[in-house]
Amino acid sequence: MKNIVILISGGGSNMAAIVRASQKEDWAARYGARVAAVISNKGTAGGLVFAKEQGLDTHVLDHKTYADREAFDAALAQVIDRYDTPQAPVLVVLAGFMRILTAGFVEKYAGRLVNIHPSLLPAFGGLHTHQRALDAGCQFAGATVHLVTPELDHGPILEQAVVPVLPGDTADTLAARVLTQEHRIYPRAVANLLSKK
Ligand code: GRF
Repeated sequence: MKNIVILISGGGSNMAAIVRASQKEDWAARYGARVAAVISNKGTAGGLVFAKEQGLDTHVLDHKTYADREAFDAALAQVIDRYDTPQAPVLVVLAGFMRILTAGFVEKYAGRLVNIHPSLLPAFGGLHTHQRALDAGCQFAGATVHLVTPELDHGPILEQAVVPVLPGDTADTLAARVLTQEHRIYPRAVANLLSKK
């Protein structure tokens, strides 16, 4: 069985969307894959509650307790590698995981490390994407699922979704509209990757 490990920092609604899709679409039968574990860098991440309810393994690695980025990433990789075998390489899914990963970590999981970013990349990498889209006068916004490469919010695009910017939008209303689309495209992108392996 191929394991999917999902990394979160907060609410985990994208993680939940992927877990639900894996159940509804029976990824075990279809792709021989399952969501095995959820890892958070914050003990208070709301998504951990859902993950536990689903009977998934959960792990908390508080980045603040590690000396530096390298040490944190090494600890993270150690946990992930419990779900990794040469026969069935683990798929690592970043879902609202708010940590920049070292190049070494990214290279280790190259081709099997995916991220969702709440903008139409390559526009608006980094933080505060919705406010920046509003400030720029964009008429459309959206989200991008991409393979992770060492450069932040770059890497081959797997899926995108577009939403309109509406009169009176705030960063919050726009974020909510984009998030509903994230829940649609992220499970689909993961399923596509699984179907190709
Ligand atoms: C999403 O918009 C994601 O793209 C961004 O942070 C938000 C996380 O939402 N990086 P959730 O934790 O999946 O609910």
